[in-house]
Amino acid sequence: MTSPQLWAISDLHLAYEQNRRLFETLRARPNDWLILAGDIAEKLADLERSFVAATERFARVIWVPGNHELWSMDDAPELRGQAKYDAVVALARKHGVLTPEDPFPRFATSSGARVIAPLFLLYDYSFRPPEVPDDGAIEWAREAGLMCSDEYRLHSDPHATKTAWCHARVEDAERRLSAISEPTVIINHFPLRYDLVFLPAIPRFSIWCGTRLTESWHTRFRAEVVVSGHLHMRGTRHIDGVRFEEVSLGYPRQWRGEDINVYLRRIL
Ligand SMILES: [Fe+2]
Ligand SMILES: [Fe+2]
Repeated sequence: MTSPQLWAISDLHLAYEQNRRLFETLRARPNDWLILAGDIAEKLADLERSFVAATERFARVIWVPGNHELWSMDDAPELRGQAKYDAVVALARKHGVLTPEDPFPRFATSSGARVIAPLFLLYDYSFRPPEVPDDGAIEWAREAGLMCSDEYRLHSDPHATKTAWCHARVEDAERRLSAISEPTVIINHFPLRYDLVFLPAIPRFSIWCGTRLTESWHTRFRAEVVVSGHLHMRGTRHIDGVRFEEVSLGYPRQWRGEDINVYLRRIL
């Protein structure tokens, strides 16, 4: 028996029929673990189907929310902000999927265990040039014709703002990560650093992509690999000797072929 492997994919966007059909081609790897790094779907029924399919095929499944999971949708309009997050966490747990609310699992490798740290950190509009003031970030994006649907669909209740929610999440994650002494794999839907945000067609979309509070976490918390999605710009980067994996599938125009397995990224 070969040793277990850790795989990741994000941004399945199962609201699209083409993406749902592609996801059906997910192959079973009964010894391996799978990370679903957010933007799987907006609606609870689609999320539940993905959790069932993934847990049938993998030994262990780990999920972190993307912004799309947090949208308030017609299927459950009363679920806003934290309540929507809590509902998806409950759904994940019902199917044995690990979430950012669970103890960090350990993944054994030939060179020792890695602590797998699924996080939910959101964004605080700080991925912007220094001359753009905090309260002018959205206007700065709007000047370039950009607006993120999150501004209408992702509510922060009961937190005063998304920034406040983000900062509370960052503080909690920082506390949990500080208690670990082993090497880690950090998973967050949003990239941990501004210099990872490569969006040549829509550079000002960066304000909806992360927080500068996490720029040093890859070294500070001894990450071997940092896994993220959100950008729909698949790729591998190395910074300070740490591997950063952007593992998005993306919208139907952003992938090709008939086999989702080629889009799974090997993490460990
Ligand atoms: Fe996405
Ligand atoms: Fe996203």
